[in-house]
Amino acid sequence: MIMTAVSARKGKRKMKTVTEKLGEIVAEAFEACGYDGKLGTVSISDREDLCQFQCNGAFDGAKLYKKPPFVIAGEVVDILLKNNIFKKAEVAKPGFINLTLSDEYVSKLLSEISEDKYLSVPQTGGGATVVVDYGGPNVAKPLHIGHLRSAIIGESIKRLAKAAGYNAVGDIHLGDWGLQIGLVITELSKRFPRERCFADDFSPGKDSVLTLDVDMLSEVYPLASKKSKEDEEYKAEAQRATFELQNGRAGYVALWKEIMRVSIPDLKKNYDRLNVSFEYWYGESDADKYVGELVDILKEKNLLKQSEGALIVDLEEEDDKSPIAPIIIKKSDNSNLYSTTDLATIIQREKDFSPSGIWYVVDTRQELHFTQVFRCAKKAGLTSAKTEFLGFGTMNGKDGKPYKTREGGVMRLEDLLTTAKNAAKDKLNASAYLSDASEEEKDSVAEKVGIAAIKFGDLINHRSKNYIFDLDKFLSFEGKTGTYILYTVTRINSILKKTETDYDAKPSLFRLYSDSERELALKILLSGERFKTALAERAPNNICDSVYQIASAFSKFYHDNKIIDEKNEEKKNAWLSLCLLTRKMILKHLDLLAIDSVENM
Ligand code: ARG
Repeated sequence: MIMTAVSARKGKRKMKTVTEKLGEIVAEAFEACGYDGKLGTVSISDREDLCQFQCNGAFDGAKLYKKPPFVIAGEVVDILLKNNIFKKAEVAKPGFINLTLSDEYVSKLLSEISEDKYLSVPQTGGGATVVVDYGGPNVAKPLHIGHLRSAIIGESIKRLAKAAGYNAVGDIHLGDWGLQIGLVITELSKRFPRERCFADDFSPGKDSVLTLDVDMLSEVYPLASKKSKEDEEYKAEAQRATFELQNGRAGYVALWKEIMRVSIPDLKKNYDRLNVSFEYWYGESDADKYVGELVDILKEKNLLKQSEGALIVDLEEEDDKSPIAPIIIKKSDNSNLYSTTDLATIIQREKDFSPSGIWYVVDTRQELHFTQVFRCAKKAGLTSAKTEFLGFGTMNGKDGKPYKTREGGVMRLEDLLTTAKNAAKDKLNASAYLSDASEEEKDSVAEKVGIAAIKFGDLINHRSKNYIFDLDKFLSFEGKTGTYILYTVTRINSILKKTETDYDAKPSLFRLYSDSERELALKILLSGERFKTALAERAPNNICDSVYQIASAFSKFYHDNKIIDEKNEEKKNAWLSLCLLTRKMILKHLDLLAIDSVENM
């Protein structure tokens, strides 16, 4: 038997989104009329008032077959109407095919989703390894809000990639080897000049090292940083200390270990609150041992050049629109730079994971740095992985400038999270949702609601955009907010509890009775498309949009129907099935956003 284009398409893919499924059906109709099946591509309607889906293939067909588009569309529609998949298939002049699904077909798709263990996340990863580089905090400095976006966007992208079947590994890429450590060492050496770790003859096994704690570190670093900006000599000292640390000065290495011992649990604590975790806690320091190899490769490929005592690599390419500066590999004093470390890290990742992709979730202001790093890595053939810069914009205050504390300083992440939690608590108390709850319970709900508000308020914006941090708005029970989504889940929980329906019960039957159900069902069916776009664009805002659509369609459905009191058993069952699936889908979205839900609020 000869395999037709359609049957070949059918055999190839396991998991399909709705538009892919419909695309196959429409392609078959095009083929049945003697046209190329490729014309059958289906997309989500941009006129929701007219139809749910559309196919614009008749226009290309018109050119190919020299026929008016509405004639082709008409022939295709005639075939489609023989199918009970569509409630409506019609031609809209001059040749659009407008499609609306039949209730039976929608019900069938709903049960397919509810049986699907991936809950319609398209399985496109195929086990390929991607390293997601996100978080990127600098040890010795307390986490500040500048690190919020990388952490939460990166975590979501990683979760989505995992859910799509990638072997995604998160690497925090600590800034643990740079000037900030030199600054801390310098400041401490002034305060505690007699400590053995500052002596030239420090002996690791024998001598003890100064003991630090988080409070001390968070006081020392900003001060040292300020001093270095005002005092050239101080700055030179810090640079020297950094250099000596990187060259293995024993006392400094011991002190560095102490800084790491104190910093890392503190970082973990903050990331835990955000539901962010990393498979690897490598730092810039771990890349240090690959710098020699990097230099050798660059030499061997004749890429290294001397320039004013430094070692550089030229990066210009023929079709560059604007000039791109060479990348510096070694400064004239032989020290390494941020770029050196990033290149060495690529060598390390290639050795450890041989990834097919490395995704960097970093502030857009670092784009040039990554353009340079990627070009150099490519010239040197450091990896076959596709390197991607996934930049994010700035979190601004209401004045449109980068968010600051009231006093004008940079806010600590911990303080921001606690502010959100307290605001959530006030709000929940005022609304008396939790009047019977214990203090402890209220506290835990407030923490989750506060964090959800911050995360959703951030993630709803396309990562590349700046946005305005507005806690009141983020905590609102209405609109595209984390609070609204969590609240919707608690509403469903309460229906299920009142009807004694187990959360994990298998939906027994899908049947649609009204438009608000059709609307909700459609939004659920479209999740797969949104997940697909989110992954393709590496942009979690698509997941936020999707879950908001589902939650607001649910609210309408809930508002229109008295689910709990419904007398018709079959109807009630169908409604409860829809509640169960809605809940499952919302929780799936939240999981991909790394947002915890609450039972009650
Ligand atoms: N530590 C850096 C910073 O605070 C971010 C690191 C981003 N990742 C990287 N591979 N360079 O700016």
